[in-house]
Amino acid sequence: MKKILITGGAGFIGSHVVRRFVNKYPEYHIFNLDALTYAGNLENIKDIEHNPNYTFIKGDIVDETFINKLFSVHNFDGVLHLAAESHVDRSIKDPLAFVKTNVIGTMNLLNAAKNQWMGNYEGKRFYHISTDEVYGSLGAEGLFTETTPYDPNSPYSASKASSDHFVRAYGATYDLPYVLTNCSNNYGSYHFPEKLIPLFINNIINNKSLPVYGDGNYTRDWLYVEDHAAAIDLVFHKGKNHETYNIGGFNEWKNIDLVKLLCQLMDQKLGRNEGTSHQLITYVKDRPGHDLRYAIDSTKINKELGWKPSVTFEEGLGKTIDWYLSNSEWLQNVTSGTYKDYYKKQYS
Ligand code: NAD
Ligand code: DAU
Repeated sequence: MKKILITGGAGFIGSHVVRRFVNKYPEYHIFNLDALTYAGNLENIKDIEHNPNYTFIKGDIVDETFINKLFSVHNFDGVLHLAAESHVDRSIKDPLAFVKTNVIGTMNLLNAAKNQWMGNYEGKRFYHISTDEVYGSLGAEGLFTETTPYDPNSPYSASKASSDHFVRAYGATYDLPYVLTNCSNNYGSYHFPEKLIPLFINNIINNKSLPVYGDGNYTRDWLYVEDHAAAIDLVFHKGKNHETYNIGGFNEWKNIDLVKLLCQLMDQKLGRNEGTSHQLITYVKDRPGHDLRYAIDSTKINKELGWKPSVTFEEGLGKTIDWYLSNSEWLQNVTSGTYKDYYKKQYS
């Protein structure tokens, strides 16, 4: 039985990846390593917690001794590394936390994998999950390809860029068998309501204002999280060593247009009069260093591995809203306590 370590599996994307791997690959034993920060939640993977091919390990990737011990005890065959501090606004307030987890944490995993595997890399693979934000900001034209130079603007994207460089350096220096993907903005179920879509869904439900940064003319390329999980599965199994693949939906939306669509769909689903939620839109102070536009060219993964998104944005957004409406307890649990303090500090 292959032993696969997935880090950050109690978070948003990680929970979808863990669920997919546990259910689809009974021949693997999945070890989910997560520190359970504010973003990690065991409720996200409750449905698979008793599966015989699944083990949860609470631990911090920044703790070098713990990580080395974990690798020597389990001798993993593969690593899918998703654990990270992931929110740009938090990185502006506390950049060092991002360096610790995203850079040092990744280094600890790379070192442990290299030391454990060196001399016999056969059948081993280190998969680093990264973001399109490392490429910086696009103007009105163009798309990020795998060869676009890195140009990160936020402490979050700078820390992810740094970790990407270390992964490639371990490939070049120690021949570590790695694959790396850079993905666009995800949306879907179990998304923590600090990010645009779940935050606005939660605020619409509660008739709270919708804080649009700046003029709202910033553009993001949105991908349904289960399509990202499917791409990760494919790259882990079929991707070529030392290769990078961009993952995106060819689905660009200006924030303000997306917010208007969300308001319209939410009014329908909540049985409110058309235009009700639209009145909640409030333009607020812009995010410092706000990247104007992200857009991914995912031709390579499509041509080489045959991946493409399976749902349209309208379908995905509809499913996402339905999930939040029928999981009000989950939403209430994650927005009680410390979430309230965060919200006050970020939006007051
Ligand atoms: P998330 O914030 O929802 O989850 C992160 C998880 O990592 C949480 O469960 C948290 O408890 C865990 N974690 C944080 N610090 C840790 C530490 N020191 N040790 C162990 N576990 C720790 O993040 P997400 O949105 O699911 O993103 C997952 C990965 O995908 C990240 O690497 C992120 O950079 C990347 N990514 C995210 C998006 C997106 O749109 N959300 C897009 C592209 C790439
Ligand atoms: O592109 C991939 C990245 O997408 C991931 O690497 C990050 O982990 C993920 O958080 C996301 O980053 P963004 O900064 O693009 O996502 P966020 O949901 O924070 O913001 C999306 C857009 O909406 C961005 O232009 C800022 C804007 N925004 C966001 C919030 C939270 C608002 O206008 N108001 C808000 O309250």
